[in-house]
Amino acid sequence: MDVMPASVDSSASIIREIIARHGESKHELIAVLHDVEKAFGYLPENALIQVASSLDVPLSKVYGVATFYTLFSTEPMGEHVIRVCENAPCHLLGANSLIEALTKELGIPVGGTTSCGKFTLKHTSCLGVCGVAPAMMIDDEVYGNLTPDDIPVILEKYR
Ligand code: FES
Repeated sequence: MDVMPASVDSSASIIREIIARHGESKHELIAVLHDVEKAFGYLPENALIQVASSLDVPLSKVYGVATFYTLFSTEPMGEHVIRVCENAPCHLLGANSLIEALTKELGIPVGGTTSCGKFTLKHTSCLGVCGVAPAMMIDDEVYGNLTPDDIPVILEKYR
């Protein structure tokens, strides 16, 4: 996923366009948030307020949705987002060792972003590829059957 951060000045009109595309229905909340996240790289507070008001959904509900789904973030993220599956099949087959290798390579904890802004490391729930556990996703690319030794090689492609 290529993320082109939008400027703060133009954010309100970008959000208006996204809502106009989907229609002002509360049933479009997740689709609208998905497109806002794509436009800004995360869900800024002002965007959540604007979406809540336009779709006539309580702000608390919009926050609830924005923070419930691991694919959404309310914090700015790095250029590349690494999501390591932490559900049982991946956990049992070594997801923790992948996290250890990633935190060591990147020098950040889970939830952190490198100071250069290149990588954000996150946990996620099942990526739907349990047959190749343990798995992780970098942007839109899924990697499976991973060992800690694979981590430096894969990261090199994104550096
Ligand atoms: S449990 Fe990790 S991909 Fe399904």
